[in-house]
Order: sequence, then structure tokens, then C-alpha cells
Amino acid sequence: MELSYSSPVNITTGSIMELSYSSPLNITIFTLVLVVFLYNFIHHLTSPRKTKLPPGSFGWPIIGESYEFLYGNSQKFIGDRMKKYSPKVFKTKLHGEPTVVLCGPAGHKFITVNEEKLFRTWRPYSLQKLFRAPFLPDTKVVIPRETLVHVTKAPGFIKTDALIEYAGKMDSMIQQQFKLHWRGKPEVKAYELLHRMAANLSSRFFLGLEENDPRMEKFAMLSFGMTQGLNCIPINFPGTRFYRAKKVAETMRKEVLQIIKEKKAAMCSGVQTNDILSHMMLSGNSETGRFKTETEIATMSSAVVVSGFTTPSTGLSIIMKYIGERPEIYNKIREEQMEISSSKKPGELLNWEDIQKMKYTWHTALEVMRLRPPFQGAFREALSDFTYEGYTIPKGWKVYWTVTTTNNNPECFPEPEKFSPTRFESLPPYTFVPFGGGIRMCPGKEYTRLVMLTFLHNVVKYFKWEVLAPNEDMIGTVLPVPKNGFPIHLHPLST
Ligand code: HEM
Repeated sequence: MELSYSSPVNITTGSIMELSYSSPLNITIFTLVLVVFLYNFIHHLTSPRKTKLPPGSFGWPIIGESYEFLYGNSQKFIGDRMKKYSPKVFKTKLHGEPTVVLCGPAGHKFITVNEEKLFRTWRPYSLQKLFRAPFLPDTKVVIPRETLVHVTKAPGFIKTDALIEYAGKMDSMIQQQFKLHWRGKPEVKAYELLHRMAANLSSRFFLGLEENDPRMEKFAMLSFGMTQGLNCIPINFPGTRFYRAKKVAETMRKEVLQIIKEKKAAMCSGVQTNDILSHMMLSGNSETGRFKTETEIATMSSAVVVSGFTTPSTGLSIIMKYIGERPEIYNKIREEQMEISSSKKPGELLNWEDIQKMKYTWHTALEVMRLRPPFQGAFREALSDFTYEGYTIPKGWKVYWTVTTTNNNPECFPEPEKFSPTRFESLPPYTFVPFGGGIRMCPGKEYTRLVMLTFLHNVVKYFKWEVLAPNEDMIGTVLPVPKNGFPIHLHPLST
């Protein structure tokens, strides 16, 4: 007898009868299964495709891979993961945030052209806590765009028109630094002296302090505690880098508040002032429609001062190391600089035209920054989901671009590991980015060029030097600092 699903009674076995779909219980089960199946099928058809995240690892819970990134070697961190996951894009977790690293010129270009459309700036929590703009509801901003555009990028401060005016003053201040701290000393810790010099220049040109103002030296000494705390895990506990940096930031803020009061009094009595701090005091704020408070101004101008000394001092230390270890490069630079020097009257200071003649010296500085950038990379935040190289990067993720994966690309720089200043005759866009690019390009680039070239002019004029610890480690990776202060032996020269 043929087994029938519709047969109410199966004469062969009772169990077959229990399986019969005709029973009310079985009809209910069948309907449920069908409903679940149809629901899943329709959901599958209508729901968005599952996101394909980039390859990579989030590392440890909460901190992710931050420790290795912040306190190891960030160039190696990035290079290892490019080899392991993909040379174009990989995911990780930095500063406790899911992060995607976009590598090479293509990654940098993608960020640059989509700035403020797909991305906005994001600064690590340590920086946010030290210098965030207190008047903005958005705590992720450190120095708001408005302030940057109207102040640091405004004519009259660190753009060319102002730098033309600064050239002679900068030369005289740098010569004074050599007299005070370099001459007559067989051995110096060059990084410490460069840091001190850059901090002095920053407080002179950005805060408008007079050269004999003792606060310039105070800022210079304070600044030592700052650099390592800018990019770190922000644990505010005595003894940590962040704790030290926070104390420095607070002291700086108090000092700047005092300077603001003095400037206000001077302005009221008709004195003309022309520096970034005064400009901040006088300009309104389009984000809030009101003038900034003194504390807000003090916080932001401290951030600009700090930007002004951290990278130039690290950059110059690395440049001195490369030149000190390569006599043929040193000789070419000295030749260029002595030619400029011999064209001047005794005691005459450098001017803007002299700076333009320092081509080989600047190309050397650029080549060092290509190989060992003083600033390793920067973060953005994704404003919406976006697709890159076939992967989906979710809204809110942090996006990191790196200087070295761009500057060491063999397609743009043949034999990228070779030190060759002459390669800077012409370069395609997005390939060389020690100062970033697009609308977030460093506003301090031209100022840095002036500081570096004026310093290099003087240092090769007065000295030859020997690097005493060629394998000295660097501490910190985003803004690296030589562990032992970069000791060198100085050999004075007659000029
Ligand atoms: C060797 C020296 C320097 C290097 C290598 C350097 C590098 C950079 C880079 C790569 C960026 C882009 C960051 C990003 O994409 O978010 C940047 C931004 C910036 N830099 Fe510099 N910088 C240097 C010197 C200076 C100086 C002297 C100042 C002083 C004013 C300065 C102020 C700033 C500011 C305020 C920004 C943020 C710009 C923005 O968000 O639009 N930098 N710098």
C-alpha cells in the first residue's frame, strides 16, 4: 500500500500516521517553518549587503594595538601589517578606536580629495584633553578650523609676507642661541638645544614676546615636558607622560593668560601689536558668533606655540644626524652657505632672498624628511560609511594616513632607501607629504623652512660635528624624540 501524506490512518504503522502533515500539530509546525524560511529569504533579499571590512586585527580588548603603535616603531608597525594584510589598506585599533590605515600615495590622495566630505579631522584623546577648543561642543577638535584659517593661515603671521619680515630677526635670534649654548662647548645634546631654540622662536613670533623677556626661556624649559605627552595613552597619574604634559599645558595656559592681560593693557594705551596671539584676541569667532574668552585664546595659542617647536626640533635633529654622518653632503651644504655668507657685509643678517638661494640645503632637508619624517601621520574620522579598495569602512571609524608609506613608494622614488637630495627637482603630487596635503596641509610649512634654513646656514658656518651615538633610539613614534638628546661633538670652524 502506498504511503499517502493525506491518509488519516495508516494501516501499516502508527508512527507513520504521527508524521502525517495532515494532523493539526504538524500543519502548525510546517507553517512556522515556512514563515521563518520566507522571512529569512525576504530579509536576505531586501537587507543591505553584509559589509566586508578590511583585513587586519583589532588586537587586545579596549587598547587594541595602541601600545605597539605609540611606544614601538610606528614605521615598522605599519610596514609589518602592510606585508601581512595588504599594502593598500588594513584595519587595527588605535587610541581605543577601530581604525583603518590607508597606505601609499593613493590612500593619501583619497583622504585629501574627500576632506570634509567623507572625513573630518580627529586628534588623539591625549591632544584633545591637552588643547581642545573649550568653546566648541565638538570635543574632537583641538584647534578649530575657523581659528586656523583666520589666524595661522591669515596673511601677516606665518605666511610668506610675514616671513619676509621675520628673516633677519630669526637669524639674529639663532646666532644668539649659538653664542649662549653652543660656542665653546666640545659636546652638546643637540636635540635639547634645538628644542630650546625652536621654543624661543615660537614664543617670539607667535606670542609676540620681546627677546629679553625671561618668559621665553621659561617656555623653552617648560616645553621639554610636552612633546612626549602629545601622543600617548592619556593616563593622568603622577609619573606618566600625559600627567607631565598636562602640568606643562596648565602652566603654559596660565603664563599666556598673563601675557593676554598685558597685551590688553598695551592695546588700550594705543600700542600696535602684530602677532598671532594679538590677532586671536581681536578676532571674533564665527562658530559661536562671539569673541573668545581669555582662557579659550590662551589654550589655542598654546597649541600653536607647541606645534611651532615640536616637529621643527625633531626634524632638525634628524637632519643634523644625516649631514653629520655624510661629509660629502656637509661639504656641499657648506659651500652653498659660505657663498651666501661671502656675499654679505660683516654683521649683515640673512634676508628672504638669501633663503631662496639655499636650494641644495633645502633639498637635503626634504630628503631627510622623506626618509625619516618628524611627523608620522594623522587621523581623520569617517563621516559616513565609505568604500575603499572593495572594503566598507563604517561611519565613525578613525582613518589614519601615514607619511612614510607615501614617501617611500618605489614607484615615485626609485631606490627609495637611497639618500639622494637631487631627486627633489620635480615630483608628482601626493607622493611627498611630510607636511600633509590639500586643505589640511601644515600651515607652518614655510615658517619651518625659514627656521631650518637659517639654523643650517649658521651651524655649517660655525661648526663641523660628529654624531656620538649613531644608533640612538627614538622615543615615541608619531612625534619621535631622540632618547639621549642626540649628543654630538662640535668642531668649531673659522668663518
Ligand atoms: C618639520 C616641521 C613640521 C612638520 C613635518 C609638520 C607636519 C604637519 C603635517 C603632516 C600636518 C597635517 C596633519 C593632518 O593631515 O591632519 C600638519 C598640520 C599642522 N601643522 Fe605642522 N608641521 C611642522 C611644523 C609646524 C609648525 C612650525 C607649525 C606652527 C604653526 C605647525 C602647525 C600645524 C597646524 C596648526 C596643523 C593643523 C592644520 C589643520 O588641521 O588644518 N606645524 N603639520
